[in-house]
Amino acid sequence: MTKLVFSEEELMQSVDYASPHIEAGQRLHGGFDEAGNYLCPRMKNREPAFDAWSRQLESRGGELLAADSSLLAGVRYPSLGQQKLMLQEDLGQSFWNGLTITGRIEARGRILAEMTFPDFQEAVVEDISQMALGHLDKGLLKAHGLDEGGEPENGIGGHDIMWFALRDLAFGETKYREPEIPENIGRPEGDQKSRPPIFQPIASMIYFLLNLLLIEFRAERGFASTEQILRDPDLFQDRREDAERAAKIVDRIRLDEEVHVMSLRLYLGEIRNLTFKTTDGGTISGKEIVDPFWSEITKWATEEQPKLAAEQQRKLFESRILAHSEGERILTQFTALEESKYDGR
Ligand SMILES: [Fe+2]
Ligand SMILES: [Fe+2]
Repeated sequence: MTKLVFSEEELMQSVDYASPHIEAGQRLHGGFDEAGNYLCPRMKNREPAFDAWSRQLESRGGELLAADSSLLAGVRYPSLGQQKLMLQEDLGQSFWNGLTITGRIEARGRILAEMTFPDFQEAVVEDISQMALGHLDKGLLKAHGLDEGGEPENGIGGHDIMWFALRDLAFGETKYREPEIPENIGRPEGDQKSRPPIFQPIASMIYFLLNLLLIEFRAERGFASTEQILRDPDLFQDRREDAERAAKIVDRIRLDEEVHVMSLRLYLGEIRNLTFKTTDGGTISGKEIVDPFWSEITKWATEEQPKLAAEQQRKLFESRILAHSEGERILTQFTALEESKYDGR
């Protein structure tokens, strides 16, 4: 019989690495096989478990929550060309800030390892002990949180330290000051319009998982452009080798994030396929809870939010550029490099 129940200890286990993951003098999570391929952390049992739960969901007529490239939509500000121009005009702090902010936000993800989550079992009709959902608080979210924020107590860096390591490889030592870190990057729960008639903490948890999925999925936009910048032969010319190395670290983070995206799609696919108890003693299908939430959040993240963010970024970039001795000239070039589909001006 397929194994569908795992202990926390099992879900935290890593495969045996042939060599450890060390960059810029930092011990980082994961490791390498004999051939030098990167292996994600804590995957010894998570991988077969996710496979088994996914197959089981399919056998019950369910599927992973659909997520395709339409979720990557929305104007990017700055565009790739704008980012490159900034680096070439000695205004590289913007890119440096971006990497620093990403690392700081990743660090916050460690909260997944520290929070207590409401138990879905009490909120649904079906038995979830053999589903991924029955393991959220038994190792799955803990493993996810450690992927993001590492294990500082054991001297092992997660994604946060990986971003700082790759930033420092590309830039070397700088005198830049720490940028401000945005408070919240998901859709605020207060904006939520759909109010399913279920136990409120469970509704909040579903909303939280959907927000997290969207953030994880859209992180791909940042991975792709960061890698392109780091691999551009015109940039970081006196540190090409280190910049290439930095791009490889981005690629490893990307592999780890693929696990997060897939696992969140699985949890939400299971939720869609379950029957929830309503507060008035009836039942409601998970689909009726997830789908309205999902359409609200995706519309916000792919349309509304990118325009607002672009507006803010434009102001910030303009003031930074104008502080340069040739600010006017650079700003003209910079404006010409805006993504054409942006019409929010
Ligand atoms: Fe991450
Ligand atoms: Fe992640």
